[in-house]
Amino acid sequence: MPAERPEDETGPASLLSGAPHPVLAGWYGKADARAGFVRRLFDAGAPDYDRLNRLFSFNSGAGYRARTLRGAGLRPGDRVLDVATGTGLVAREALRIVQSQGLVVGLDLSAGMLAVAAGREGLALVMGDAGQLPICDAGFDMVTMGYALRHVADLRAAFAGFRRVLRPGGTLVLMEIASPPGRIRRRLARLYLSRLVPLLGRLTGGGAAADRMMRYYWDTIEHCVPEAVILASLAASGFAEARCDTQFGLLKTYTARRALPVRAARGP
Ligand SMILES: C[S@@+](CC[C@H](N)C(=O)[O-])C[C@H]1O[C@@H](n2cnc3c(N)ncnc32)[C@H](O)[C@@H]1O
Repeated sequence: MPAERPEDETGPASLLSGAPHPVLAGWYGKADARAGFVRRLFDAGAPDYDRLNRLFSFNSGAGYRARTLRGAGLRPGDRVLDVATGTGLVAREALRIVQSQGLVVGLDLSAGMLAVAAGREGLALVMGDAGQLPICDAGFDMVTMGYALRHVADLRAAFAGFRRVLRPGGTLVLMEIASPPGRIRRRLARLYLSRLVPLLGRLTGGGAAADRMMRYYWDTIEHCVPEAVILASLAASGFAEARCDTQFGLLKTYTARRALPVRAARGP
């Protein structure tokens, strides 16, 4: 398992490469094995995902996702692409807000997660990679991604794709969990997410797959590049108004906008 990282280290290799975290060799060996490892991890953990999510969020996840989407301006009739939709927890809240006149498409690379998401009425599903979206240009009012930023190969490549599929003026919303500041809070978060939640998961019927999924979840959080790098990557990918709102030092919401084209100045 990768060693604990000093508080102020940001992982220089991943800063240069555009990866959201350095190679976690203890999990998958080399960088090119990461995507297959992540897919298998979520395929195996899919049946347990919703239950674990309710457990570690004290059942607050649905309300939090809905408030975040509304706060970012999602309205009835909007078209949403939910990247890394998993079992569809963000997509489900988006569907409630956009109602029947809107559209929600969920995209994920894990067949196991998509099989669970397929039970959600009204949700259109696509299998694909966040880094190479098989989606046409400028078709969505909002692109969302919940708790999956840490799993893309290259932040800038992924963000460039998100911008491409948004209409001009459209909004990107990224929900994330970050390692909280301060040694004690970080230790508590680690204990909770990488030990207690997997234990509770096992006690409530989860197996080794759920355990691994949660422990990997924490490792990627702890090794993720900092907020400033994510904001800089958004700006480098052509997004405007990139910002991050943080709650409890732990929950981060990044929002950014695909700028409207500048209108050509009229002559006198
Ligand atoms: C922690 S789950 C998040 C699910 C959901 N968005 C939520 O809010 O609960 C992460 C999801 O990201 C998916 N994923 C990881 N890497 C991906 C990639 N490169 N492209 C598409 N989906 C990816 C996984 O299959 C998994 O379903």
